[in-house]
Amino acid sequence: MRILFVASECVPFAKAGGLGDVVGALPKALLARGHDVRVLLPKYGFIPAHEMWRHSAPLGVPMGSGEAWCAVWESHLPGSKVPVYFLEHDALFGGPDIYEGEGSLRGAARFGLLSRGAFQLCRALSWIPDVIHVHDWPSAWVPVMLNGVEAQSEFKGTATVLTIHNMAHQPKFPTEALEMLHIGKDELREDSLEDFGHLNPFKGGLYHATMLTTVSPRYAYEIRTPDGGAGLHQAMDMRGADLVGILNGIDDDIWDPATDRYLPAHFSSRDLSGKASCKDWLQREMGLQVRPDVPLFGVVSRLTDQKGLDVVVQVIDRLLDLDAQLVVLGSGDRALEATLRSRDGWEDGRFAAVIGYNEALAHQIEAGADLFLMPSRFEPCGLNQLYSQRYGTLPIVRAVGGLDDTVEQFDPAHGRGTGFKLWNLTPDSLVATCAWAVETYRHHPAAFREMQRRAMTKPMGWDVSARGYEDVYAWALTRRRGS
Ligand code: ADP
Ligand code: GLC
Repeated sequence: MRILFVASECVPFAKAGGLGDVVGALPKALLARGHDVRVLLPKYGFIPAHEMWRHSAPLGVPMGSGEAWCAVWESHLPGSKVPVYFLEHDALFGGPDIYEGEGSLRGAARFGLLSRGAFQLCRALSWIPDVIHVHDWPSAWVPVMLNGVEAQSEFKGTATVLTIHNMAHQPKFPTEALEMLHIGKDELREDSLEDFGHLNPFKGGLYHATMLTTVSPRYAYEIRTPDGGAGLHQAMDMRGADLVGILNGIDDDIWDPATDRYLPAHFSSRDLSGKASCKDWLQREMGLQVRPDVPLFGVVSRLTDQKGLDVVVQVIDRLLDLDAQLVVLGSGDRALEATLRSRDGWEDGRFAAVIGYNEALAHQIEAGADLFLMPSRFEPCGLNQLYSQRYGTLPIVRAVGGLDDTVEQFDPAHGRGTGFKLWNLTPDSLVATCAWAVETYRHHPAAFREMQRRAMTKPMGWDVSARGYEDVYAWALTRRRGS
């Protein structure tokens, strides 16, 4: 099958969160299964031009009454032959941010250009995909365009699959964008782009994509309920039969404790001695007391309401009173950042916070901590709890979305489990679950060790998920082509 990914993020070129991890990994797994898969991204100002080449012909993308002229650059996903194309348009993408201009006409022009540019690029390459796979709101314009301005073109046999990574991000745009993007005014209706008088590309994509997927079965259920649907649960429910939950996986090229290039020592489920060295290194590096016996909690997260870290902050003292340590890496909410920063280094070497985005430290925390905290309010899938399991760092999670699907509750009676789950996001419930984990760490080391082994050896690669996507592509094609 010919598959084009159109996305706003892709590791290692541009990443704000897990979406970038997914777009950087799934195409490799699909290529390994024999598909002709390619990726299209914007060329943001921060993406260096080294190890990529520029196509000789510029690409004209119809916009408004004329064309927007873009340069096309080409590279590939590291360690694979998956081609990655970059659309260069300095006025729209030359800045330092992946996401900007949300709510404005300019904001609509940015990913509108990328989406329309996808069709133009395929034409220029004489490569018409069977499936265009789009991700969240930025490329959700594609299915709308395919059913509109491109309906009778050479793309009429092309199916679209929209993967929902997070329903919470739904920027709205002024209706003037319709004309600019050559989308018919009739799409300004409730069962398409219209959202309280504005354009909501996510909503349009939900109605127009041939098939929908989201990143865990549990989240697929949650988004069809008023609580989880972020205002679109009715649309989701209407398309419920076309919605499939497929779990994210781990890119072993990047997240494997036996080879991870960021770690001071390596380890595997058979020999955890390197993990002890990683903990020792992390404690020194973070200015924590260097004590192998003390349970070390780790957090790596965007600091947003979604992640429940406000509750972690409320209970820092109670966690440290368990004779434990806590290290937090994150950025986002200014108030949370300030609180975390103000306590960094003040707890007698038991608490450390690093505010910012730090790829190396994210890996080092996953490896050096004993327990990983992720008490999200909602979590479509979550990758950090997968990484932490692979690194023998048992996750403490709230039983929602992908967290519920990917972490098995500790069950000492039956020798099962890969982590610890809580249901209510309250300070008491979080502390009680952490206390249970600390108790297990201290007083039942054999059970803890056994759980680490189970977590580390659990299959979490992309190969299984890639097969799930293959099925979805096939269904989408049948639906589109009728055979
Ligand atoms: P989300 O996409 O909702 O943020 P995920 O768990 O799916 O959550 O993915 C988050 C990704 O972003 C992981 O790869 C994680 O390591 C990374 N990440 C989050 N915050 C930071 C940070 N401050 N520094 C480095 N990496 C981070
Ligand atoms: C989103 C979600 C996260 C998911 C990621 C990749 O950012 O918040 O749960 O793992 O996308 O699908």
